[in-house]
Amino acid sequence: MATFISSTLMSTDHTPKPASAAPHAGDVVSAFPHKHLLGIEGLNPLEINYLLDLSDGYVEQNRQANKNKAILAGLTQINLFFENSTRTRTSFELAGKRLGADVINMSVATSSVRKGETLLDTAITLNAMHPDILVVRHGQSGAVKLLSEKVDGAVINAGDGWHEHPTQALLDALTIRRRKGRIEGLTVAICGDILHSRVARSNIHLLTTMGARVRVVAPPTLLPTAIERLGVEVHHRMETGLSDCDIVMMLRLQRERMEGSYLPSVREFFHLYGLDYDKLSVARPDALIMHPGPMNRGVEIDTVVADDIHRSAIQEQVEMGVAVRMACLDVLTRNRRAHASEALS
Ligand code: MLT
Repeated sequence: MATFISSTLMSTDHTPKPASAAPHAGDVVSAFPHKHLLGIEGLNPLEINYLLDLSDGYVEQNRQANKNKAILAGLTQINLFFENSTRTRTSFELAGKRLGADVINMSVATSSVRKGETLLDTAITLNAMHPDILVVRHGQSGAVKLLSEKVDGAVINAGDGWHEHPTQALLDALTIRRRKGRIEGLTVAICGDILHSRVARSNIHLLTTMGARVRVVAPPTLLPTAIERLGVEVHHRMETGLSDCDIVMMLRLQRERMEGSYLPSVREFFHLYGLDYDKLSVARPDALIMHPGPMNRGVEIDTVVADDIHRSAIQEQVEMGVAVRMACLDVLTRNRRAHASEALS
C-alpha cells in the first residue's frame, strides 16, 4: 500500500478547492487508501482532511447552475436501507446522481428481516448484480461491516445501530471547519441522548482525532458507561457543559431505541437539557448550533433557537451532507477502479 501523502493535505488553507483537483483516476488514492467507509474510528487526521478538502470542492460545484459531473457514469450504486430514512437516503441518492451513477434505492422493512441470515442472503443476492457501491443502513451495530465482507463493491455505512454514522460526522466536521476555519482547539458540546446515538460516537472519534476538546452533556441514564475512555469530558448539567463552548451539537431523543424508562418525562427533559437561549447564554457569543436532524422541536431544542439564522447551522449541515457523500463516492470508486485494474494487470 502506498504511503505517499500529498503535501497539500498538510496545508491549513481550508479555502474551497475545485473538485477537479482530484488525483489521477487510475491510482489508489494514497491519502485515503480504503476500500470501504465503515466508520470514523481508525481514520487518521490526514485521511479525514483529505475527504473534507475534496468535499469543499463539491460544495462549490453544487452551488453552480450545472451541478453534474459524470465521473461515476456506468457505475451502479445501491442504497440499501433496512431502517427508515428520508434525509440520509435522499442525500446519498442526490450525491450519486450528480456524479452520474445509476442509483437504485432498496428499502427493506425491519419487520420483514430475519436477522443475520436475511442480511447475508440479501448481500449475496445483490452482489450477483455487480453493484459498484452499496450504501447501507441497518438497525444492528456491526451489520454493515458483516455485509462488506460478503460483497465485491465498496460499502459506505449510512448508520448501523448505535455504532457509527461516518458521513454524518464528516458533514458536521465540514460545517464546523468552513464556519470556524479549523477544528483543532475548539470546544464542542454534544448534548442529549448520547447512549443511543451513532452520530455522537462518530463525532467523538472524528473531533478528538482532529484535536477538538469534546464534552458530552446528558443525564447519567443517557450516557454509555465509561464514555470518558473515548477522550471526552462528561457533564450532567447544561450550565457547565456549555460554558464557553464554540459548538453546541444537539441530539434527538431516540425513543425508538429506548426500551424502558430513561427519563422522568419529555417536559422535564426539555426543562433540564432542551437548548433554549437561556442555556445557550453561557456558551461563546459566536457558538454555532448544530443538529443532525430529524429534530424534535420543543424536546431537545427550542424551535426559535433551531431557526435562528445567525446561530444555527442546521440547514448548512444538510447542504454539506450532499458534498461529503459525493466526495466519499468519488474516492471509493477511484480506489475500486484502481484495485480492479491492478487485478487485471
Ligand atoms: C441517524 O440516523 O442516526 C440520524 O441521522 C440521527 C437521528 O436519527 O437522530
